[in-house]
Amino acid sequence: MKIAVFGDIHGNIEALKAAYQAALSSNAEKVYHLGDLGGYSPFVNEVVEFLREHNIDGVQGNYDETVANDREHCGCKYEDPVQEEMANRSFIWTKKHASPKTKEYLRKLPISIDFITEDRRVTLFHATPSKNNLYWYEDRPDKFFREMAAKTDADIMIFGHTHKPYRKDFENKIFINAGSVGKPKDGDPRSCVTLIDITADKVNVEFLRVPYDVEKAASEIITSGLPVYFAERIKEGR
Ligand SMILES: [Fe+2]
Repeated sequence: MKIAVFGDIHGNIEALKAAYQAALSSNAEKVYHLGDLGGYSPFVNEVVEFLREHNIDGVQGNYDETVANDREHCGCKYEDPVQEEMANRSFIWTKKHASPKTKEYLRKLPISIDFITEDRRVTLFHATPSKNNLYWYEDRPDKFFREMAAKTDADIMIFGHTHKPYRKDFENKIFINAGSVGKPKDGDPRSCVTLIDITADKVNVEFLRVPYDVEKAASEIITSGLPVYFAERIKEGR
């Protein structure tokens, strides 16, 4: 079974459209998203509409849960006060502009999607099996991977949240961070589409980088009234 996974889209409709075309060309049988559908870019309503229209199922991210329920805080982590101020502005903007229909969709997203294929148990969730805002980076100690794996009976775990893609094989489990479609943070501004091909004897993972009109996406951030800061970041892939 071959699937395409869209991590953290964050309101970037230009990136999502390009990612979807790439997924179609890859012959993926099914496309999933990993949540965090709004914030940083302005098209949260359009992103949700696109996902509905194309039957792209997915899970709830921290940003979805907090926007849908009008929480005080998005549950994100910041490295400095400037980032915190910018992120707060983006969160307030998104809560204000997400339509009731969008919020209802975000509220109803499941925490995980689980299925079995080729005798392998697969689970998709936003950040970790038990907490939707913990950052599961590749350099976490083995102990962390072991603890997270113990929270689910899956053989293959697929998640996002950090916006930095990786695959790690460890103690008979496969951990796949699918990166981000709409706001990569690994220095490559191209959208990341993660293709996962699961067969009886192997699991192939490809992080396809898809070019899209980043300049257009950046100028739409600026005209929307969101901080210019985020327009600069998506151009840099940061
Ligand atoms: Fe995110």
